[in-house]
Amino acid sequence: MKLSASILATRLSSLDSLLPTLDPTLIDYIHMDIMDGNYVPQISFGEALTKEVKELTQIPLDVHLMVKNPEQEVPKYFPLQPAYITFHAETTNFGVRLAEEIRKNGCKAGVSLNPGTPLTAIEHLLPYIDLILLMTVDPGFYGQSFVRGGLDKIQKAREMILGSSIVLEMDGGLTESNVVDIIGSGAELCVAGSALFKGAHPNENARKLKGLTSHLQKKI
Ligand code: DX5
Ligand code: ZN
Repeated sequence: MKLSASILATRLSSLDSLLPTLDPTLIDYIHMDIMDGNYVPQISFGEALTKEVKELTQIPLDVHLMVKNPEQEVPKYFPLQPAYITFHAETTNFGVRLAEEIRKNGCKAGVSLNPGTPLTAIEHLLPYIDLILLMTVDPGFYGQSFVRGGLDKIQKAREMILGSSIVLEMDGGLTESNVVDIIGSGAELCVAGSALFKGAHPNENARKLKGLTSHLQKKI
């Protein structure tokens, strides 16, 4: 399994000291939860903080845009060259064009679905995307509980992308108790907020989460 660390669940004022300590052999991506206070209730941060994060770590960035008008916001991240830029299927009627624009600008394109949005909403996008980000909580806050039905949706998404190189990422409510089921259902990249940043040792928490699923990796 791979881990994408959601810094939303940290004290943002301590990123200077925290980010350089994160071990890139344990934490595969830094997950940037961009919230506009419109699509989701809260405003978090935007491209300015993302730029600072990039300067503080070698770990590639995984940008998750929870914003209305993604056409306007997406280009702001091109100069930062994150590994992934992910927009929400619910926020655009022009997903094909947006995904193509992301790819043309040197990033991988992701599309995210809220728990209430069916997988059929993105079937037409499969040839244009590199990643599906399944929300397993309603977006907006860290520290919420994994939704019922989340495992089933992960399994169905895995079936939908069988034979393709699309990465299946889950986001929301990951814990040491459900990580085995989540990976067993077919997710390969997990966003971890509170599970990673609880306590003072994120690297140890990452090692533990990955250790719990190492027996599954061998089977895949
Ligand atoms: C929720 C965000 C998530 C969140 C994850 O809207 O997209 O990335 O920060 O945090 P946990 O792992 O605590 O649910
Ligand atoms: Zn997120």
